Amino acid sequence: MKLPLVIANWKLNGNKETFSLLLNFLEKNQEKIEKKCNLSISPSYVYLYKFKKIIKKHKYLTLSAQNVDIHLSGSFTGEVSALMLKDMSVKNVLIGHSERRINHYESQHLISKKFFLLKNCNLTPVLCIGETQEERKNNETIEICKKQIDFIFQSKDKNVFNDTVIAYEPIWSIGTGKSADPKEVQFILGSLRNYIRKKMLYSLNNFYLLYGGSINENNIDSFCKRKDIDGFLLGNACLNFDSFFKILEKISK
Ligand code: PGA
Repeated sequence: MKLPLVIANWKLNGNKETFSLLLNFLEKNQEKIEKKCNLSISPSYVYLYKFKKIIKKHKYLTLSAQNVDIHLSGSFTGEVSALMLKDMSVKNVLIGHSERRINHYESQHLISKKFFLLKNCNLTPVLCIGETQEERKNNETIEICKKQIDFIFQSKDKNVFNDTVIAYEPIWSIGTGKSADPKEVQFILGSLRNYIRKKMLYSLNNFYLLYGGSINENNIDSFCKRKDIDGFLLGNACLNFDSFFKILEKISK
């Protein structure tokens, strides 16, 4: 059975103490979560090393990075390469998050370069896609998401989405406290899954579709058990361990 995948993105939050507490929390609650959900922790780069040991011990846990450079090495001050992430035992890498598209002007072209670089390095790209409020009002959500997906399909490899994750995150919902309607999310993800399936040359394997955007302990229930929601990308919800744990418990039910 495919277990839900939960990626907990700490963004630019947390410090040495936060992540030590998180490590204790994960060790303590391991039995309740493992076998029911696959959890991936995504701290800032500088704290990845802290998780290396525990990742090896627990199968249900993986590490995610919040970004990657398009080069593997060289004179690129301030960047982190896919090979360095592999050294830190990272499995998944977020790309195309709207905070990077908006604040760092990341283009579709750059995002697809990152996507293929990660695949070549045997890392899992977590491609974040989603529409603005304006696009939603104009009923363009599915069209916009398909365009973001098509950028990746432009490559010669028609099986590009095997061993990957797509996180649908409406931009208007990220960090705003306004989550999308679970029924609508189910419809959007169902349509996107069919779209990708039809475009792939062979069957779609080891592929996850996540929802992200203002998930919290009160709304998580209404998203769980929807056929096409394979898991969640959490932001603010993981900053408070109590509510983070409640969410994990509900997902693991
Ligand atoms: P949020 O963030 O849960 O705080 O809305 C989600 C995300 O940015 O992935």
